[in-house]
Amino acid sequence: MSDVRVAAVVVLAAGEGTRMNSRRTPKVLHELLGRTMLGHVVAADRGLDPQHLVVVVGHAREQVAQHLAALDPGVTTVVQEQQLGTGHALQVALDALPDLGGTVVVVPGDAPLLTSRTLGELVAVHEQTGAAATVLSADLDDATGYGRVVRDVNGGVVAIVEDKDADADQLALTEVNSGVYAFDAARLRKALGQLTTDNAQGELYLTDVIALHRGAGLTVSAHVAAASQEVMGVNDRVQLSQARALLRDRVNDAHQRAGVTIVDPATTWIDVTVTLEPDVTIHPGCQLHGATTVATGAVVGPDTTLVDTTVGADSTVLRAHCVGAAIGESASVGPYTYLRPGTVLGNASKAGGFVEIKASTVGAGSKVPHLSYVGDAVIGTR
Ligand code: UD1
Ligand code: MG
Repeated sequence: MSDVRVAAVVVLAAGEGTRMNSRRTPKVLHELLGRTMLGHVVAADRGLDPQHLVVVVGHAREQVAQHLAALDPGVTTVVQEQQLGTGHALQVALDALPDLGGTVVVVPGDAPLLTSRTLGELVAVHEQTGAAATVLSADLDDATGYGRVVRDVNGGVVAIVEDKDADADQLALTEVNSGVYAFDAARLRKALGQLTTDNAQGELYLTDVIALHRGAGLTVSAHVAAASQEVMGVNDRVQLSQARALLRDRVNDAHQRAGVTIVDPATTWIDVTVTLEPDVTIHPGCQLHGATTVATGAVVGPDTTLVDTTVGADSTVLRAHCVGAAIGESASVGPYTYLRPGTVLGNASKAGGFVEIKASTVGAGSKVPHLSYVGDAVIGTR
């Protein structure tokens, strides 16, 4: 990456996300592996260490702004009153940052698989080539729905054409626009002022900046993402589950490479916020959520859900549902056990079959073998 800090990252997150068909949750607040879509995007953006991190909000703005304030208080929110298109959203953001110069990175709020690393590569290419704009593109087998990158005979980027505006030849192109770009701020400002709504959706398209720059004789280029899945935009719930599965694989691969045995990665769902030590074993059908941590040698599953639960070294937790519990070392939980918030199991203790425990402490070496309810109690040791 360059030694000059990126002036700003602008996240476009004002749209309603009509294709999600949600009455209660704005698109960017839908969740994947313990974080909202927007949360994933903001985390990736932070990796660039920009001077400003701006999120354009509009639809359900209170809900989105409140979420952002809790997630990352350093984020500036800018309101786009009416959602007139991605170009308009960026215009509104730049109007709020009148003195901005240098490199501006734009990221859509619906790209949860994007990584800091790829953003860094985009910025490096952009600054090395001295381009006015560099678009992050990807080659996809199925480009349906995405804007297509149109190149001339020399391979130079000429324009981005939206799916809904493309002719048959353009629809056959497989290089898609990710909606992620690096721009020179001054030139961007000028081009945004020249956008029109003369297109299939009657919107101010940010994508048109590319052709405007090219027409003005400026350099525009594309950086093709090495991992094409990173550019995936989530517009409906089918794409949401596809993105979630891709993210699950990424998380599970990283844990396995770090020494965790995951017997069936396809049925193991681990939030990005969970910590696992080497030599943990996870059997099929497990979900690990929130601030859960599992220490070395512990065996979890099959069919176990852990929410904000700590599991000590060498414990076994089998067919259990645990929420806000603290399980000591070499303890035994399950099968068919429900540990509720405030449960503390001492070292070498046991909560056996069909046991429910709430807000109670079970002392080291003590056992609650089966068919019991324990609430608001303290059980001594052994
Ligand atoms: C956009 C791109 C398309 C690209 C795709 C990648 C345009 C015109 N098209 O299409 O080329 O292949 O992303 O996923 O840019 N938003 C606002 N304000 C608005 C409109 C949208 O903030 O007025 C936000 C949305 O909340 C969303 C992002 O911009 O997070 C992209 O909008 P979306 O409607 O998803 O655009 P796509 O159709 O996916
Ligand atoms: Mg989209």
